[in-house]
Parts: sequence; C-alpha cells; structure tokens
Amino acid sequence: MILFQQSNALRSFLDNQKAQNKRIGFVPTMGALHAGHLSLIAQAKQKCDIVVCSIFVNPTQFTQAADLETYPRPISNDIKLLEESKCDVLFHPSVDEIYANDLRKDDTNDYGSFLHVLEGASRPGHFDGVVTVVKKLFELVRPDEVFFGQKDYQQCLVVQTLINRAFQTIKFNLCAIAREEDGLAMSSRNIRLSEMERILAPQLYLALKKAKQLWTLETWQSAANEALKEIDSNAFTVEYLKICDQNTLEELLHFQHNAVIVLVAVQIGKTRLIDNILIDRD
Ligand code: PAF
Repeated sequence: MILFQQSNALRSFLDNQKAQNKRIGFVPTMGALHAGHLSLIAQAKQKCDIVVCSIFVNPTQFTQAADLETYPRPISNDIKLLEESKCDVLFHPSVDEIYANDLRKDDTNDYGSFLHVLEGASRPGHFDGVVTVVKKLFELVRPDEVFFGQKDYQQCLVVQTLINRAFQTIKFNLCAIAREEDGLAMSSRNIRLSEMERILAPQLYLALKKAKQLWTLETWQSAANEALKEIDSNAFTVEYLKICDQNTLEELLHFQHNAVIVLVAVQIGKTRLIDNILIDRD
C-alpha cells in the first residue's frame, strides 16, 4: 500500500493510473477501522483496479468539540488493517492539507427536507461538514466508484444528492451494514462502550427487527411503539426510532409504502449509537 499525505502527490499517482485506464474505487473514512470498513474495501477491490481509502477526521462535521477531540485515531493499527486488506492507496492528510486554514462549510440548505430530520435535526451543521469534505475528496480523488456503508443511511442520501448535482460520472455503492455476531452494527464508536453498555447495545438491532416483523400492524406507530419496548429505557435515552420512506425520510404513519426504512438513534452512557434496517415490501 502506498501512503500519501499530500494532495499533489496523490493526484499525480492517480493521473498515472487513469492514463493506464485503471478504474478507481474510493472508500472515504475517518479511521478507527473495523470489519465494516474492511468490507467496503473488499467490495471496492472486487469492482475496481485501484482502491483508495482516505482516513481524515473531519473537524467541520463534528457538532461538539469534545467529540472531535476524543474521536479514536489508532492510525498504526488502521494502516496494518488496510495492508492486510490489500488496499492500494491510503490518503491520510492533515487538516491544513484539506482546509488550508479555511474551515468554511458548504451550504446544503437546498438539498431537500430529508437533510433536516433525524441526524440533521440532532446534529445541526453536521451534513454541511460532511458535504464539504466529501466534495473536496471527490474533486481530488476523482473516483469512478465510491463505497459507503448503509449504517449512515442519511449520509448516503446526502452523498447521492451531491453526486447527482456535481459528480454524475461517479457510481455510488450502498454497502450493507456489517454486524457483530450479536447484531450490534459495527462502528468506530463501539470501543467507547463500557462492558455493561456493550452487553446492552444489541437491543437496538432487536428493536429494528421487531419493527420489521410488525409491518402488518395497522399503523406504523404501533410497530414503532412495540419496537421501543426492546430497548431498556433505564440504560438508553432514545433520540428517535422512526419508520420512514427510504427516499425522502418522511415519517410514515401507515404502511402504504413499499420502500421503508426504520432508523434509530440512542445515547448510552457517553456514546451515541445509530442503526437502521431496510424493509422492501413487494
Ligand atoms: O462516514 C464517515 O466516516 C464520514 O462521515 C466521511 C464520509 C468519511 C466524511 O468525513
């Protein structure tokens, strides 16, 4: 694997690859890699000739300074994992390299109402920061295909909107959520869970499965209420558990739609966890 910290060096390497008609796959990450990220690399490797992974803890997408400061950064282990996964290129720039002292964010106000609900409502400005950095990275890497995990489903919709607007040649791949054996969605934040929190955390997936199982109930709201019972209210603060349209993220009250997604966000101790499940009813 070749490691680049400077954009210019990365660009000239990739220009060279493009001149040889190599197909570039891109997996943007913030590091603290786990099996979920590695499955994105594996999928990129299957479809592309050169796989570029970026590790960049993006300051503009954090809504709390403490969260940015304590975000895990195990770079040596990340490099080892990427090498084992046969990733071709790692781009690991500094904040200055990406932002050059200008931390202004892009405005995503006109992206659509789906951006202002769920994570958008809980973390104001978060998606502006995501779009800002993803746009910079896409402009630099100019990938043929990109690979994003379904766990951050709303982020996937945001990135798809960015691609439709500004990067129409890029193919977007939505990659299934990687789960631990007990169902907990893999996340870089899981390492912050205490032993007891880690034991309880799979309740999120139980709740999502319950909602999926209950889709025949008269109203989605009753399915959501039943699902919530799977989550121990003493241990978790539930921010939302919502059954929504997969495309617009509009909350659904009755089961008249085919493409539905159940999304959940909770706080447990100091850790915020999100998860979701798709329901395609054909
Ligand atoms: O999903 C993430 O890890 C980040 O939001 C991303 C897409 C790498 C942008 O910083």
